[in-house]
Amino acid sequence: METQTAVLEALSDIVGSAGCLANEADVEPFVTDYRGAYRGKAQVVVMPTTTAQVSQVVAWCHAHGIPMVPQGGNTSLMGGAVPDDSATAVVISLRKMTRVLAVDTINDTMTVQAGVTLSAARTAAENRKRLFPLRIGSEGTCQIGGNLSTNAGGTAVLRYGSMRDLVLGLEVVLPDGRILSSLKGLRKDNTGYDLKQLFVGAEGTLGIITGAVLKLMPQPRSTVTAFVAVPCPASAVKLLNEARMLSGEAVTAFELISAPALDLVLNHLGSVQSPLQGRYDWMVLIELTAGTEEEHLNNSMMELLERGLEHGWVVDGAVAASLADGQLFWRIREEISDAQRYAGGSIKCDISVPISRIAQFIEKASAEVQSLEPAMRMVVYGHIGDGNVHFNPLRPVDQDAREFLARWSKPVSDLVDDLAHAENGSISAEHGIGVAKRDSLEGYKAPVELDLMWQIKRALDPRNLMNPGKLLPLNHRAPPADQ
Ligand code: MLT
Ligand code: ZN
Repeated sequence: METQTAVLEALSDIVGSAGCLANEADVEPFVTDYRGAYRGKAQVVVMPTTTAQVSQVVAWCHAHGIPMVPQGGNTSLMGGAVPDDSATAVVISLRKMTRVLAVDTINDTMTVQAGVTLSAARTAAENRKRLFPLRIGSEGTCQIGGNLSTNAGGTAVLRYGSMRDLVLGLEVVLPDGRILSSLKGLRKDNTGYDLKQLFVGAEGTLGIITGAVLKLMPQPRSTVTAFVAVPCPASAVKLLNEARMLSGEAVTAFELISAPALDLVLNHLGSVQSPLQGRYDWMVLIELTAGTEEEHLNNSMMELLERGLEHGWVVDGAVAASLADGQLFWRIREEISDAQRYAGGSIKCDISVPISRIAQFIEKASAEVQSLEPAMRMVVYGHIGDGNVHFNPLRPVDQDAREFLARWSKPVSDLVDDLAHAENGSISAEHGIGVAKRDSLEGYKAPVELDLMWQIKRALDPRNLMNPGKLLPLNHRAPPADQ
């Protein structure tokens, strides 16, 4: 094994000494995840600026048997982007690869380096009067490479799909340093396996994404947003169905918010008030967007809410009268994640079930979780238009966060995951697996799926050096021995 000094020297030769960090304080932000839930150690953090440098760094680490942890904005909730505590790994951060290489408004594509933040990508598209539609709360920090590696979803998947749907080509450095590139921007290419999709959602276990061609969309000409109280999740699902019948594609977002989730945000933000006068158990944030004039879209929203009232699926509602109103509705929704982080003691479950089973899932899971500890706050929210519920029980007000998590994290997660699985669902809808769900995955995926996942891993990374210990359950198949 090389000494830390030798690793630092070799990597500095490739990227320059300004692109390498080894001092403990400098390395700290790269070995701790954004919630402070996962901490590891690294020999060196290296920050290449070009794909050629990434390739050389990877080839060197591969030749010397050094584990590599690719890292984007480090906003993952699952511990997938930080090293373990063996202090053997090199973190390869893409944060200096921030160039938007091309925006092609005829092909409607954008070519970017992996370290471009999501908000920079959205701005680059906007500057050319296009939309890059991925929308998640961490957009200022998360990076396109990480978005692709985790197949990020967010609040506009209902209309535009997740990262898997938004990518046309990738550039990837393989675990031995070879470069695989499909940065052509083709909408049709039927020449065999779609290799790029292997790397989407692979959480950096098969290689490092260094560049991508992304799809651009027309910018909507009008947007109407409503914050609506519904009696229960079943009514929310009926309203969603009605919205899609009435407005089809225009339904861009449909987000469920429970009362404890709203309370937490209002408490966290202090000065912000609920858009609704009364206090309700359940709310939905609905966004319609279209290329048509505002008036038409407004009428669609009013018709939807009237029908909702008639059927008893809607009990109150506010339609944004200005851009600022709409921004406030969204702020409330997007702050739920941070509000939980500040409160501490939040058990993060990110499940999906078929939309037709959401209501029964929420009902059962809430009853069973509360029978364990009735004072848990049921912070339940998410993208119900995609069947995706963030079911995140929060510690009772008077309980210590650490004690609460030590006692309840595993039993509650297992219970929620089992119920989702029983409803034909997934234990990770959009946050990925990382280390948080790595071992439980074994209980929910068929052995043949896990066999194939390990076979793909072995084929691409026979020495198990690329983000080892992430995503693939260790017990199912022991990682192959060093070759
Ligand atoms: C969200 O929808 O807000 C995100 O997935 C993040 C989270 O749940 O913490
Ligand atoms: Zn989400």
